Amino acid sequence: ALKFASLLILAYLVGSFPTGVLIGKIFFHKDIRDYGSGNIGTTNTFRVLGKKAGIFVFLVDFFKGTLATSLPIIFKLDAPHWVCIIFGLAAILGHAFSIFLKFKGGKAVATSAGFILGYNLQFFLICAVIFIPLLFLTSTVSITSLISVVLIFIASLFFHDTALSIMSFGLVVLIFWSHRSNIKRIISGNENMVHFGLYYHL
Ligand code: G3P
Repeated sequence: ALKFASLLILAYLVGSFPTGVLIGKIFFHKDIRDYGSGNIGTTNTFRVLGKKAGIFVFLVDFFKGTLATSLPIIFKLDAPHWVCIIFGLAAILGHAFSIFLKFKGGKAVATSAGFILGYNLQFFLICAVIFIPLLFLTSTVSITSLISVVLIFIASLFFHDTALSIMSFGLVVLIFWSHRSNIKRIISGNENMVHFGLYYHL
């Protein structure tokens, strides 16, 4: 039980690592939270600090989720596979409510994706097939994230994994809540879009 609790705290701390804020401060002398959407995540890093920083923040925030989810396996915890979900959740909550950022944080998209990869590769591939085309169709990361998480919850129902479906439903709630400012902008028609040089907007 002590091992379980320590690993769970480690998962939360891994998730809490504020990649976007650190990259901004160290390499750009900017606090990412003062620019663009004010978010610390991949999308705002691309927007404010550029492509290289964006890719880096995505990879670190993503693999925080994968690493935390894999902790029970790495440390040979004697527990059923679904317990990995609790560790993924700890990292996602760490990312969204970081101990290093006065319990504020990111919107949980990249870290959730990393969790899904760590938990179930087949489910991850389905999620990617949902997310990537939507991103190109809408050119809007927030809209893509919101639609995807609902479709991902529905997709989870086909996996006959109750823990995964409960978690996916939790992600719907968390991601809608963390995107509340985006939802307002979407409704008022002011949401930021991304540009791929592919102008097929909804
Ligand atoms: O990465 C989260 C994304 O869905 C929205 O980010 O910066 O546009 O609020 P942002």
